[in-house]
Amino acid sequence: MKIPTLFKSLIVSAGLAAAVAAPAALKVGFAQTGAESAWRTANSESMKAEAAKRGIDLKFSDAQGKQENQIRALRSFIAQKVDYIVLAPLVETGWDPVLRDAKRAGIPVIITDRSIATADESLFACFIGSDFLEEGRMAAAWLAKKTGGKGRIVELQGTPGSAPANDRRKAFAEGIAGHPDLKIIDSQSGDFRRTGGKEVMEAFLKKHGKNIDILYAHNDDMALGAIQAIEEAGLKPGKDIIIVSIDAVREGVQAVVDGKINCVVECNPLFGPKVYDTITKLGAGEKVERKSFNKDELFDATNAAAALPTRQY
Ligand code: AHR
Repeated sequence: MKIPTLFKSLIVSAGLAAAVAAPAALKVGFAQTGAESAWRTANSESMKAEAAKRGIDLKFSDAQGKQENQIRALRSFIAQKVDYIVLAPLVETGWDPVLRDAKRAGIPVIITDRSIATADESLFACFIGSDFLEEGRMAAAWLAKKTGGKGRIVELQGTPGSAPANDRRKAFAEGIAGHPDLKIIDSQSGDFRRTGGKEVMEAFLKKHGKNIDILYAHNDDMALGAIQAIEEAGLKPGKDIIIVSIDAVREGVQAVVDGKINCVVECNPLFGPKVYDTITKLGAGEKVERKSFNKDELFDATNAAAALPTRQY
């Protein structure tokens, strides 16, 4: 069919108008630490799914557990002139130079999940994350009550230099300090990984034999790896060795229901909605909270079964 010339030009100009009117999608660069745990997978998924829902052009980078890769990702986001950068920092220190570059380029940076140590608070727009100190305190308080303040503890630490490893270690140590018969007899990093948890627990069992009463793991993945090591050593996790961990991923809460972990302190990874809401506010020139934390719960034998069906991660 032949289209009259007048119609053709109307169609062309309508198309052009639509192209001019469509606002460009907001470009956000997200520098993720890696994929070390179930928590991390849920966190990445929350950021990606929520971006897709809101039509945000998310540039996602997985640093595979290396700070240099995260720094490289930030530089690439700056070169791509993204509108915002979101950083989940692997470790606390060493971010100032690249954050200064982002500031010079006029790109606001939102720090999420883990905090950074910097003397220049103007290098980031705000922090959205978890209160790792409170998580460590909750774990210690539960344990002191459960054991009557007595027991030999081995500790599986997270990634060295990371805020959750530093804070959960510090707050837990302070929390048990008033109970002289609760003692940490060994403490090593399992890097927040299941394989790390298993390997380090095997080494603890080899070294301390049956002199371990309690395992405090900085995350569920390491606790789940350690459970394998404990079972392979012919011991019963949750009975011969009391286990407290952090995250409350579905498999962790399931382990509480199964009696293999005694208590999990929640650390909610679903930051996507809050991060993009904050970006929207910043874009509108609204004031945002300088530091905002999720409120976390605790699950043990009294409430884990009821909580399990509605766990979102
Ligand atoms: O920063 C949050 C911690 O990082 C989670 O507890 C852990 O599972 C993750 O890898």
